[in-house]
Amino acid sequence: MTQRTLVLLKPDAVRRGLIGEIIGRIERKAGWAITALELRHLDQETLEQHYGEHKGKPFYEPLVAFMSSGPVVALVVEGERVIEGVRQLAGPTDPIAAAPGSIRGDFGTIVRENLIHASDSEESAIRELKIFFPGIS
Ligand code: TYD
Ligand code: MG
Repeated sequence: MTQRTLVLLKPDAVRRGLIGEIIGRIERKAGWAITALELRHLDQETLEQHYGEHKGKPFYEPLVAFMSSGPVVALVVEGERVIEGVRQLAGPTDPIAAAPGSIRGDFGTIVRENLIHASDSEESAIRELKIFFPGIS
């Protein structure tokens, strides 16, 4: 099942010089391909759309502030079961709960600064790709 997913390397990953490390892990996965890639600053409107499901939760405002604290790298990754696969590479949301070997397990600090976003379902992927790469989805 070939899929597309949206990946964001969050501002902490960019600041800490982990772009190459994280993209390398995705690239090394056989059968997956990066088909779009862009460094960009996210504005409030984009973040509201992207994280709309979390609006009103206590962590929402700090999350949006963090996500606009510096540039992110946005990528489209295509391949076999890539939605589940990148979530697996990333590890659970809370880095403390993430196993060593996963991106969040190896490099994450606190839950808000967990380095990477990856779409969590086919439905989310379609929605998120439209926000970030409207030209190609
Ligand atoms: P969520 O969609 O639950 O996690 P994931 O990124 O694994 O899909 O939450 C979105 C982001 O919000 C999460 O990556 C980090 C932040 N967050 C917090 O800061 N505190 C929290 O308690 C939760 C659940 C998330
Ligand atoms: Mg999520």
